[in-house]
Amino acid sequence: MAVATVPEDEIKKQLEYIDKIKALGQNRKYFIVTLGCKLNEADSESMAGMLEKMGYAPADSFNDANIVIFNTCSIRENAEEKVFGKLGELKNIKAQNNMIICFAGCMSQEPHVIDKIKKSYQLVDIVFGTHNIYKLPELLYRKIVQNEEKRIIDVWDIDGEIYEGIPVKRESKTQASVIIMNGCNNFCSYCIVPYVRGRERSRAPEDIIHEIKELAKDGCKEILLLGQNVNSYNPREGYNFANLLSDIDKIEGINTIKFTSPHPKDFKDDVIDVISKSNKISRVIHLPLQSGSTKILKDMNRGYSKEEYLSLAKRIKEKIPDALFTTDIIVGFPGETEEDFEDTLDVVRQMDYEQVFMFIYSVRKGTRAEKMPNHIPEEIKSERFNRLKTLCDGMTEISMNKYVGTIQKVLVEGESKTNKEVLTGRTPSNKIVNFEGPKDLIGKEIEVKIVSQHVWFLKGEIV
Ligand code: SAH
Ligand code: SF4
Ligand code: F3S
Repeated sequence: MAVATVPEDEIKKQLEYIDKIKALGQNRKYFIVTLGCKLNEADSESMAGMLEKMGYAPADSFNDANIVIFNTCSIRENAEEKVFGKLGELKNIKAQNNMIICFAGCMSQEPHVIDKIKKSYQLVDIVFGTHNIYKLPELLYRKIVQNEEKRIIDVWDIDGEIYEGIPVKRESKTQASVIIMNGCNNFCSYCIVPYVRGRERSRAPEDIIHEIKELAKDGCKEILLLGQNVNSYNPREGYNFANLLSDIDKIEGINTIKFTSPHPKDFKDDVIDVISKSNKISRVIHLPLQSGSTKILKDMNRGYSKEEYLSLAKRIKEKIPDALFTTDIIVGFPGETEEDFEDTLDVVRQMDYEQVFMFIYSVRKGTRAEKMPNHIPEEIKSERFNRLKTLCDGMTEISMNKYVGTIQKVLVEGESKTNKEVLTGRTPSNKIVNFEGPKDLIGKEIEVKIVSQHVWFLKGEIV
């Protein structure tokens, strides 16, 4: 696949803008609001990396920020509404603080959103999209040094490019997300992602491996490989996702390798083989189902049937007996009958998932499903959602009970967000474990005995 790459000169130019802004030498702060998926979180780490190189420090809240960036998500309607609510709240603060407000991420790729900002949100100073994040230094320079008065809107309707060499601010020293591919060619009929993220493009394996080796040198132990469709990774003829996994598996210092999201239709045997032979690649496999009904899967354009999905899971289990599955499910897709929904419940029971991420179908402008007949009334959608949730909650409780009394290897991530006296980490199967212990354990791998389960987390004691 021929993929456009941003020329080195363009990146160099941006690094020069970074230096020019840094030379202003004022005491300035930034605040980034990140919505959506892990790809957006990774993009925010790039934005933060550039801002910190420009001399900005992180602000604790909107109130003391000179620049605020909204890194937005379009996946469902409630994600979009949240942003406009927050923007409204900023009107007064902006008047007092003279802050710069940037609107970025997936929503800025949607023409109707741009129209809405133009019409009703005068307070937004800069809009940029998912394809030109690396241009943030230049856009800021125009605003704060050249004092451009007019609002800057720089959004590109292109397939997308690969870029390297932008500074990244990592949230954690021990765990890091690494984007391996971006964009999506699948056009599932309900989904906005292919429209807002462009076509699939893969980073060169050399760049990915170099980045991971550098992270390992810096003390990183766990890598999360990211992409809308990681198993479509295909930077060149003869090199695929299985090759990349096995090359990363050889990097010294990295103990755990995770990836998300794979697509069931592209989950080939070579990937299953690499996982089965590795003692670093996580056994928790995210296998997004979306629906258990073959008819609905066809209308969703998912490229597999109920039976094909179940037989893939069986093949994985045969080669990786300790594999655990997580999934995404959409309830209430247009035309979903009670029988179709029963098929979904049936797959959930058969798969015995570790975790199910459930979503109520949300109409997205410009997608094929928007124009389909037989949209499901809200009350039926919620009623089905609740039934699925009851089933999954029951299964979660049974699966969490199984941990009590076991000893688990845990990478200590840090203090618990809700209680600073307690440390937190995850089991190899991704369950949160809280336990008491000295802070110098952060970043280390230790053994913890699980003493109780609390639905969303486990409590443990250091062995
Ligand atoms: N590329 C990933 C999905 C990214 S979006 C994959 O194919 O698995 C994350 C999840 O959001 C999807 O798996 C789907 O379950 C859900 N989702 C996407 N579009 C949606 C919509 N219009 N309404 C409700 N849920 C949606
Ligand atoms: Fe959306 Fe489907 Fe692409 Fe996932 S694979 S991002 S659900 S279009
Ligand atoms: Fe949302 Fe964009 Fe991710 S739409 S889910 S932030 S790719």
